[in-house]
Amino acid sequence: MSNADQLKKAAAEAALQYVEDDMIVGVGTGSTANHFIDLLAGMKARIEGTVASSEVSAERLRKHGIPVMDLNSAGQLPLYVDGADEATEHLHLIKGGGGALTREKIVAAASEKFVCIADESKLVGMLGAFPLPVEVIPMARSFVAREILKMGGQPELRQGFTTDNGNLILDIHNLHIANPVELEGQLNQIAGVVTVGIFARRPADVLILSGKDGVRTLR
Ligand code: A5P
Repeated sequence: MSNADQLKKAAAEAALQYVEDDMIVGVGTGSTANHFIDLLAGMKARIEGTVASSEVSAERLRKHGIPVMDLNSAGQLPLYVDGADEATEHLHLIKGGGGALTREKIVAAASEKFVCIADESKLVGMLGAFPLPVEVIPMARSFVAREILKMGGQPELRQGFTTDNGNLILDIHNLHIANPVELEGQLNQIAGVVTVGIFARRPADVLILSGKDGVRTLR
C-alpha cells in the first residue's frame, strides 16, 4: 500500500470509534471512504445497516455483505463518514471530486454527526485551489457556466461524466473562497444548479486528519 493510502486508511480507522452498536451509518464516496467501508466490514454484525452516498459505494458495501438501506426508510442518521477534497480548520469542505456531491450533501444533512476523514494534504488555509465541483441539470449547463464566469470563476465541463442523478458536473477553477458560507448560497441560487461542492452551511462536525506524525482530530 502506498504512503498516501496508508494515511487514508489511518484516518478511516480512527473514524470507527464513532460507530456504535445497532447504528445505521451514512457512508461516503472516494478512496478514503473506501478504506472506511473495508474496515466497517469487520464490524458489520454490530450495525443495523448503511446508507450510501453513491452507487459505487453501495456496490462496495454489498460486496462486503453490509446491508444498504434507502435514506427514506432509514430516517435521521446518527453518523455520516466521508472524505473531502479540501478542508479548513473551520471544518468547511470542498467535496465532489468523485462526482457524488449531491447524495453526499443529502446524507450529511440527514445525519446528526458528520465525521470527515482525510490525510493532512487536504487541509488548506482557504478553499478553492481544488476546482469546485458544481452539479447542474444538463439543459442549464451553458447558462450556469455563463453565470459563473460573471462571478470570476472558470467553469470546465467534466468530460464524459454523468452523475448518479443523470446530471453534469462543472469544475470551477480560479475561485478564492474567502467566505464559503456566502458563496455556497450564491451558487445555489443559480437556476439549474443542483448542488455546490462547498460544504459550509452544513460543515463537518469532526475532521480526522492523518499525517506522518499520527492522527489528529479537529472539532
Ligand atoms: C466524492 O464525490 C468526493 O466528495 C470525495 O469524498 C472526495 O473527492 C474525497 O475523495 P478521496 O478520499 O478519494 O480523496
